Amino acid sequence: MKFFIDSGNLADIKRLVPLGIIDGVTTNPSLLAKEPRDPHEIIKEICQVVQGPVSYEVVATDSAGMIAEGRKLAAVDPHVVVKVPFTRAGVEATRVLAGEGHQVNVTLVFSPTQALIAAKVGAAFVSPFVGRLDDIATDGMELIRQIIEMYRHYAFRTQVLVASVRHPMHIVEAARMGADVCTCPPSVIEACFNHPLTDIGLAKFLKDWHAAQGAAQKA
Ligand code: E4P
Repeated sequence: MKFFIDSGNLADIKRLVPLGIIDGVTTNPSLLAKEPRDPHEIIKEICQVVQGPVSYEVVATDSAGMIAEGRKLAAVDPHVVVKVPFTRAGVEATRVLAGEGHQVNVTLVFSPTQALIAAKVGAAFVSPFVGRLDDIATDGMELIRQIIEMYRHYAFRTQVLVASVRHPMHIVEAARMGADVCTCPPSVIEACFNHPLTDIGLAKFLKDWHAAQGAAQKA
C-alpha cells in the first residue's frame, strides 16, 4: 500500500520524506488555504521534494471551468494529479481530462456508486472519505471494502485512495483490505512511530550495554 501525506505544509512534508515511505501527496483547497504562499509555487516545490503523484484540486464548479483549470494545474508539474470533486460537472470533466491523458483524482466520494462512476470515466484515483463518514456514525471503512470488492470484478485501473484518515487503525484496516493508497495527515504518520514497548525495550538494551561496558572498563 502506498502512503501519501495529506498536507500542503512543506515543512511537514520535508520532515517525513526522508523516512523513505512517502509515495505521494494529496492537498485540497482547505489545506492550501492554510499556507501563506502562492499555491502553484507550493505544489511545484512539493513535487520536487516527493517525486510522486501530488493531487491539486480545481475550484471551478462547472465542467468547462474544471477542464480549463485542470489543464492549467496539470501544467504546473508532471507529477500533478488533477483533483476533481464528484459532481455531475466533475464527472464530465474527469472523462475529458482523463481522455487527454491527465491523471485525475475524484474526491469527496461517499458512496459505492460514486466510486463506480469515477472508475468508468477513467479516474486514476478515487478518494472515499472514511473519517467524515465515521463522523456521522456511518462505517467509513465498510465503504472501502465495498469499492474494492466492486472494482475486483472489472479491469478498472482506478486506484482506491483512502482519504480523510483520522488514526492508525484506518491505515491498518486499509492495508488489510488491500487499498492501493492511504493518504494520512502528518500527525497520523507520526503516531505510527510511537510504541511504548519499543521505547522501554530500547532503553533497557542501552542500559544493559552501557552497564557491561562500564564493568569491562573497571576490570
Ligand atoms: C483527501 O484527499 C482530503 O484532502 C482529505 O483526506 C480530507 O480529510 P479531512 O476529512 O480530515 O478534511
